[in-house]
Amino acid sequence: MKAEIIKLLKERQGYVSGQELCCRLGVSRTAVWKVIKQLEAEGYIIEAVRNKGYRLVDMRDVLSGAEIESCINGGPIGARVVYYEETDSTNTRAKALAEEGAPEGTIVAAETQNAGKGRRGRGWSSPPGSGIWMSVILRPDLEPSRASMVTLVAALGVSEGICRVTGIMPQIKWPNDLVLSGKKICGILTEMTTELDVIQYVVVGMGINVNTHGFPQELTDKASSLYLETGKTWKRGPLMGAMAQAFGMYYEQFLAAKDLSLLKEEYEKRLANLDRQVTVLAREGAYNGICRGIDSQGELLVEKEDGHISRVLSGEVSVRGIYGYV
Ligand code: BTN
Repeated sequence: MKAEIIKLLKERQGYVSGQELCCRLGVSRTAVWKVIKQLEAEGYIIEAVRNKGYRLVDMRDVLSGAEIESCINGGPIGARVVYYEETDSTNTRAKALAEEGAPEGTIVAAETQNAGKGRRGRGWSSPPGSGIWMSVILRPDLEPSRASMVTLVAALGVSEGICRVTGIMPQIKWPNDLVLSGKKICGILTEMTTELDVIQYVVVGMGINVNTHGFPQELTDKASSLYLETGKTWKRGPLMGAMAQAFGMYYEQFLAAKDLSLLKEEYEKRLANLDRQVTVLAREGAYNGICRGIDSQGELLVEKEDGHISRVLSGEVSVRGIYGYV
């Protein structure tokens, strides 16, 4: 009910009468009034005028289960939202929920994580009030070997969601880091569980630096945030809603093709280093080449000096441009 009230107040330019809220939600005026009081305490600024009703004047950057739900606009992602003020890692929580049968599209989000996980066994700093720390449970009907492509789909969704809200389009550092001005603003950690060669679930965890004002000195040339890049603070609920919608749209296209053939063009538009020199740090040694995009399986195409195109598999290697982090 709380999410529906928030949504109605956000959609309406003017007042929503108490009567309308009661009728739509099938609850008493007192119940509506109690929710309005809770919302005010959480940081929504609501004007109440006798004989007119309630009007949302402004709001803080509130993050709550109801706020996130109110920002979801259909699509396969966000049908269920699980929110924690503090948790160890939303990926760990999402995996536990998936084991208990949580449906595809469940979003697990937290204000802060005290054991956030990054890729390659690293940690992920997740302080309160500044970022989006969320994981999505998916149950794609795919061979496990195709699951790594979901990460590229998620990167595309996050980039598009950010673009729809802020007007700036983050580039993708293959396979799945998002960058602005050559610095990382988002990392994605995908974890999969299979049984007898069938995917049980995939958890895609996204960490986005939204309103972070600064980073430790050793990260200042590598990490950034939407705030640092735009000079503005952003409300995280609408960003999450836009990302969920865009990710859902691309995910449906991915499932229809069972590969990235329908998304390759969209992905390459955002690909950092396209047609530029990159260094591939492979296990058997490093080599240079020109980045020529991705194939329908999400492998990076790198043209070597002799004209031969090598296909780089995600997870196996790391790819760097010749300057800096990207
Ligand atoms: C990376 O190393 O680039 C991946 C970072 C992924 C961080 C996100 S934050 C939400 C989710 N929960 C985690 O513990 N990790 C991911």
